[in-house]
Amino acid sequence: MRLLFIGDVVGKPGRKGLPPTMSALRAEQHPDLAAVNGENAGGGVGITEATAKEILETADVITLGNHTYRHRDVYPLLDSEPRIIRPTNFPAGNPGRGHTITEAAGMRVCVINLSGEMYLRVERNPFNAIDELLDSTAGAADAYVVDFHAELTSEKVAMGWHLDGRAAAVLGTHTHVPTADARVLPGGTAHISDVGMTGSRAGVIGVRREQALRAFRTQMPVRFDTADEDVWLMGVAVDVGDDGLARGIDQILLPVET
Ligand SMILES: [Fe+2]
Ligand SMILES: [Fe+2]
Repeated sequence: MRLLFIGDVVGKPGRKGLPPTMSALRAEQHPDLAAVNGENAGGGVGITEATAKEILETADVITLGNHTYRHRDVYPLLDSEPRIIRPTNFPAGNPGRGHTITEAAGMRVCVINLSGEMYLRVERNPFNAIDELLDSTAGAADAYVVDFHAELTSEKVAMGWHLDGRAAAVLGTHTHVPTADARVLPGGTAHISDVGMTGSRAGVIGVRREQALRAFRTQMPVRFDTADEDVWLMGVAVDVGDDGLARGIDQILLPVET
């Protein structure tokens, strides 16, 4: 089973860059499953019903993160659409679900969205929450793919080790900056601290750089708009064997052709 996993789609530039780049990637990589993090798809922060539906024309699964609930109009879709997931360790009664099980290359693949708790708000500790979820879904899935949406590389590296041998892939998101540590851990889990984003490299993690710089320099509130030049698609491709463990992970860093 070949998985494509693409980092946070940021605003309209990210959404517009996604379909052409993904179709080129599909032709080249022949993925069986394509998951895309969409937590910044709607105006750079959060996701709307319309932007979620737009991404679902390109992706099989959308994962989210700390900005999940920014736009209220998406809440009904989070409840009704099994292809969109939000962090499983958010409060249980909140809109949406934390995992989805989908068929890919004859395997039942459980895709899980999990949030770190360092500098982010969650209800449950991610390490305990993922243990409970793997227990409760045992026998229902042949492979597990985890989008670990977290701030700290230490927490992300720790989660890789925590799940090594139990998940096919533990793939970091949230920082929008790709890391150079993609590898298959000894137990067979593909890991990267952060896959990066689908958005503009001309800004500051997706925001226009002059606005971000003004905020840093003046410490005053500044309106943020989405940067739109030099858009790249960033992610990974993971090969998963019939045993539900990874055979390889390749980093994808592709400029969007305009
Ligand atoms: Fe985030
Ligand atoms: Fe993000």
